[in-house]
Amino acid sequence: MALLQFISAGLPNVRVPTTVHSDHLIVAEKGAKDDIKRAISDHKEVYAFLSSAAEKYGIGYWRPGSGIIHVVIFENYAFPGGLIIGTDSHTPNAGGMGMLGIGVGGSDAVDAMAGMPWELPCPNVTGVKLTGKLGSKWNSSKDIICKLAGILSVSGGKGKIIEFFGPGVQSMGATAMATVCNMSAEIGSTSCIFPYTEAMGRYLSATKRADIARTADRFKDVLLVADEGSENSYDEVIEIDLDTLEPHVNGPFTPDLSHPLSRLKHALSESDWPVELSSSMVGSCTNSSYEDLEKVRHLVAQAKTAGIAKVKIPLLVSPGSEQIRATAEADGILQELREAGATLLSSSCGPCVGQWDRSDVVKGEKNSVVSSYNRNFVGRHDSNPATHSFVTSPELVTAFAFAGRLDFNPITDSLPILNDNVSSSFSAGSTAGPTFRFRPPVSTELPKAFDPGENRYQVPVTDASNLSVHIDSKSDRLQRLTPFEPWARGNASRMEVLLKVKGKCTTDHISPAGPWYNYRGHLENISNNMLIAAQNAFIPERDPKSRGHTLNPLTGKMDLIPAVAKGLRREGVKWCIIGDSNYGEGSSREHAALEPRFLGGVAVIARSFARIHETNLKKQGMLPLTFDDWTDYDKIELGDRIELVGVESGEMRSGRQITMEVRPRDGDVWKAMLNHSFHSKQIEWLRAGSALNHVKNTTLR
Ligand code: F3S
Repeated sequence: MALLQFISAGLPNVRVPTTVHSDHLIVAEKGAKDDIKRAISDHKEVYAFLSSAAEKYGIGYWRPGSGIIHVVIFENYAFPGGLIIGTDSHTPNAGGMGMLGIGVGGSDAVDAMAGMPWELPCPNVTGVKLTGKLGSKWNSSKDIICKLAGILSVSGGKGKIIEFFGPGVQSMGATAMATVCNMSAEIGSTSCIFPYTEAMGRYLSATKRADIARTADRFKDVLLVADEGSENSYDEVIEIDLDTLEPHVNGPFTPDLSHPLSRLKHALSESDWPVELSSSMVGSCTNSSYEDLEKVRHLVAQAKTAGIAKVKIPLLVSPGSEQIRATAEADGILQELREAGATLLSSSCGPCVGQWDRSDVVKGEKNSVVSSYNRNFVGRHDSNPATHSFVTSPELVTAFAFAGRLDFNPITDSLPILNDNVSSSFSAGSTAGPTFRFRPPVSTELPKAFDPGENRYQVPVTDASNLSVHIDSKSDRLQRLTPFEPWARGNASRMEVLLKVKGKCTTDHISPAGPWYNYRGHLENISNNMLIAAQNAFIPERDPKSRGHTLNPLTGKMDLIPAVAKGLRREGVKWCIIGDSNYGEGSSREHAALEPRFLGGVAVIARSFARIHETNLKKQGMLPLTFDDWTDYDKIELGDRIELVGVESGEMRSGRQITMEVRPRDGDVWKAMLNHSFHSKQIEWLRAGSALNHVKNTTLR
């Protein structure tokens, strides 16, 4: 979608170094080789488009199987002191290399690609002081961010950069720091960063960038660390003692439901979450480094020596990049994992983003999975709302894979060794017969040498004047974008309320992933998924249609939300969405803003927004507004119509509130005040119909 938007801007090529990564579409099913083959066949048209658009506009292109975007960036482009934006919310991953990485929507990326300045409100800075050190116990860098998520919640980092400091920083490898920064997206922070350390220098040298390490070394005490005394000027300071930090398991359904391992059994006993695990996964951009895989191997080897040769439940392992895969293969790690029963998936997102062709559990069947991923929203991995997903470190995932149960604590519990010496069976409290207890895995920060593996990178072309971009006008997967209409007077009068969202509404609820990813380049088709996972407050939760459905105000009939929105658009009726707290949290998925705009939406009025989604809505010419008084959310009833006063040309000003007039179908009109965060230039986006229209109307003319 970012490329389609860039194409519609009409520039000859990108003006800052840009790369495109094919990692999200690859379905995990049989294993790396077959899955990549299937992806290349299933998505031939999309990959041909990406490749041709990259060639045409001077962009580097990482083909399927080359790795997950953030891992490839870490291995090739991230450097201390740099700034990178990426159309994925886990772009802060680069903070593990002392680089400020910020996740943005596609239209923000298009601004940067077009050479325009990129902006965001100046964030606050939260300092996190790490004392003690990691390394000799079961805790890992994943536990730092899992604990922090529990402290700050999914919205606690909003408008903040998380900056780590303190002696504990020195005990971490570069990829371990990247794990923390990566998952900072789960607390909604703008970015996350570590100061430059020797470990970063070691990583740069190991990835053939010793020259950058030498340059960074020259500035390590001045430019690449926090200023002296900054500890006293952080907006807030949180301290975490790595010596006493417990391993954490977070979930289900939200990454900030944080359980120290010692309390997980209790949490399980107090809930109805399935204790038996159906599957386990190691991978994602968060935890798929060489160090992570080596820790998994270490535990597998311990179990094998004790006589437990196989994991108890499926263990799916995705190396983060082709380089990590090739290196782990060369070092024998992957062979040991295969022998233990693991399935090697391709170096891509796979089940982390719903691309999991799962046949062991039917949709709707209650089950639990555990992964080293970052995100565990409803249906995130397998589109099954009954899958309870827990996130933790790769080492705990491995221990759970051998136990097959979530109430296993490898620090205090042992696994029975059965007579056949090839399988284990853990049941809480069982001690009969020979047993085996894991030792904490030993950490190996870097391999002796990285093996780059197969080269799947397409370099940018310098003269592309004769090249063309492949888009078939009959395609159901790709569609050139038609610019949105500029703001028309009266857009925000007598808006119907399409639905009132209740509770958590992430971008996965607004524009679900999984099979829908096939239509990411076709706005019309992907719009058929709009809000189909959202809970509608107007329908009782016990009604199976309370998710994804709403009453059509024109016909009075219940239908899927996108179908109702289309019907309203057809009749020229404008509509708005009422949202709850932190509306649009999660990923930077701009489809979540493009779809409501495309289907005739004018405004989203919520208790609060996640940062990236709020900006995405503005960029697409919509009005993200927040209730001045949160209780006004409760007063909106089914059938209400809404009028916004103060949004017409010349009326709207930065910092000035907007009046909402609510007209119930029967009852008196009432008013409430709404806030917005538009500054004067962003108001121009609204008038032009989108930020891209504004850019075209002004700078690129
Ligand atoms: Fe991909 Fe999951 Fe990371 S979708 S980019 S592996 S968060």
